[in-house]
Amino acid sequence: MAQKREVWKTHTGMILAMIGTEVGLGNIWRFPYLCGRHGGSAFLIPYLVLLFGIGIFAMMAEWVIGRYSRKDPLGAFEKIKFPKGREVGAWGIIGPFFLYAYYIVITSWVLFFIIASFAGLYFGKDTQEFFLSFLSSPYIFLFHLAAVAITSGILALGVQKGIEKACKFMIPALFILLIIVTIRSLTLPGASAGVEFYMRPRLGALLNPAAWIAALGQIFFTLSLGMGAMIIYGSYLKDKWGIPTNAVACALGNTSASILAGFAIFPAAFALGLGSAVSGSQSIGLTFLVLPKVFERMPAGWLFGGLFFLLLAFGALSSAISIQEPSIAWLDEEVGWKRKRSALFTGLIMWLMGLPFILNGYVMGGLGEKLALLSKMDIIIGQLALPLFGLLAIVGMGWVMKEKGFQELHKNARHKFGKWIRPWMRIVVPSATILIFILSLITVLEERGVIKRILPVVKIREFVPLGIGPSTVIMIILATGLVWGGCIFLTTRAIITEKRKEKGI
Ligand code: ALA
Repeated sequence: MAQKREVWKTHTGMILAMIGTEVGLGNIWRFPYLCGRHGGSAFLIPYLVLLFGIGIFAMMAEWVIGRYSRKDPLGAFEKIKFPKGREVGAWGIIGPFFLYAYYIVITSWVLFFIIASFAGLYFGKDTQEFFLSFLSSPYIFLFHLAAVAITSGILALGVQKGIEKACKFMIPALFILLIIVTIRSLTLPGASAGVEFYMRPRLGALLNPAAWIAALGQIFFTLSLGMGAMIIYGSYLKDKWGIPTNAVACALGNTSASILAGFAIFPAAFALGLGSAVSGSQSIGLTFLVLPKVFERMPAGWLFGGLFFLLLAFGALSSAISIQEPSIAWLDEEVGWKRKRSALFTGLIMWLMGLPFILNGYVMGGLGEKLALLSKMDIIIGQLALPLFGLLAIVGMGWVMKEKGFQELHKNARHKFGKWIRPWMRIVVPSATILIFILSLITVLEERGVIKRILPVVKIREFVPLGIGPSTVIMIILATGLVWGGCIFLTTRAIITEKRKEKGI
C-alpha cells in the first residue's frame, strides 16, 4: 500500500530544505576557487547574469514538473507526457546514485577533518602527507560508512521529520558558523590583501569563454539541477507557495553562502602568507591541503578550522540527502516499500558504489592517482550529465507541458512573469544550456587530447586569442543543431500522437 505523500510542513522549513540542497561542497570549495581563477569579483558578472537569466529558470522548471506531477522524477516525466517519459525520468533516479557515490566520499573526508582540526592532528605536519595517509588508512572506511549512515538515518525519518527538521538545524547553523569564520578571517592583520585579491575585478578574464562555461557549470551544480533533487523537492511544495518568489529567495540564500565562503577563505590565507597557495590551488587541494595550513597558522586555528569543517559538513550532508531522496521516493511511491527500508536499501547500494573511490585512494600511491577515479566521475557527472538532464526538465516544462507548465509556474504566485517568459523558457534557457553543455564537452575532450586526435590538423587554441577556433565554432553549430533537431522532432512527434489520439485515429 502506498503511503500518504508528504509535503513540506512550513514555509521556513521548505526554504531551508531548498537552501540545504543548494549549499554544499560546491559553494565552499568550488565557488571561491572559480572566482580566484576567473577574474576575482568580475566572475560575479557571468555568475549573476547566468544565475538570474538561466539557472533560476531551469530550477523553476524542475519545481514545476515536481509540483505538477507530485511524483518522483521517473513518474514525473511520465505524468507530464514527456516522450519515453519513464526512460528519461529514470535518469533522475539512477544518475543521483553515481553523484552520491563520490559526493559522499568527499563528505566523509570533511567529517574526518572536523575531528582532525579540533584535535590539531595536522598541526606541525606536511598537510599533503597528512591527507594522503588518511586516504590510505582504514579510518576512511569508517568515516565513509558514518556519512552514509547519517544521510540514510535522516531520510528514514521522512520528509518533515527527517529532511525538514535536519535542515532547520543544519542550515542556520551553517550560516552562523560561516559568519563566525568570516569575521575571524577578516580581522586578521593583513587580511585586506585577500579581500583585494577576491574583490578586485579583473574584467579581462570575462573575455575568456572559460569564465562563462565555469559560471553556468557551477550554477547547475550549486542549484542542484539535473540531479533529480529539485524535482523531488519541488514535488513537496504546497500549492499556496508561489514558485517565482521562492525560487529567487532560495537562489539569493545560496549565492550569499558562496560569496561569504570567499571572504572566509581568501583574507585568512593572504594574511597568513598562503595567498598564492590558495589562489593557485585546485578545488579539492584548496580544502584539504591548503586550508589546514591556514588554520595551523591562525591563532586558535584548531577552533576555527573545526568550525569551518563543521559548517562544510552541514552543507555537504544537507545536499547529499537531497541526492539520495529521489530514489527513496521512487521506492516508496512506485514499488510500495516502507520509507525506512528504502533508506536502508539505497544507503547500502550507494555505500557499495562509493567503495571503488575509497579503494582507489586506499591502494594507489600519489595524490593524483588516489583521486583519479573521483576526478573522472566528477567530470562525467558534474560537468556533463547534470546540464543534460537539466535540459530535459527545461524542455519538459517549456515544450512538453507547454501552457500547463506556465500555469503551474504562476499558480498562486504574487509576482507573475510577463509574456516574455514563454520564448525565454522555450528558446533562450534551453539554447544557453545546450551551448554550455557542448562547450563543456569540448573542453573536457580537449583537455584529454581527444579533439587533437580527431582533428589533428586543427590546433583549436591557436586560432583566436579567446581560445575558440573555427573548428570549435563549427562543432558547436552542428551539435546545437543536432540537439535542437532532436528536441523539435520529439516534440512534433508527441504533438502528432496526441492529436491522433484526440481524433481517435
Ligand atoms: N548543490 C550541491 C552543492 O553545491 C550539490 O554541493
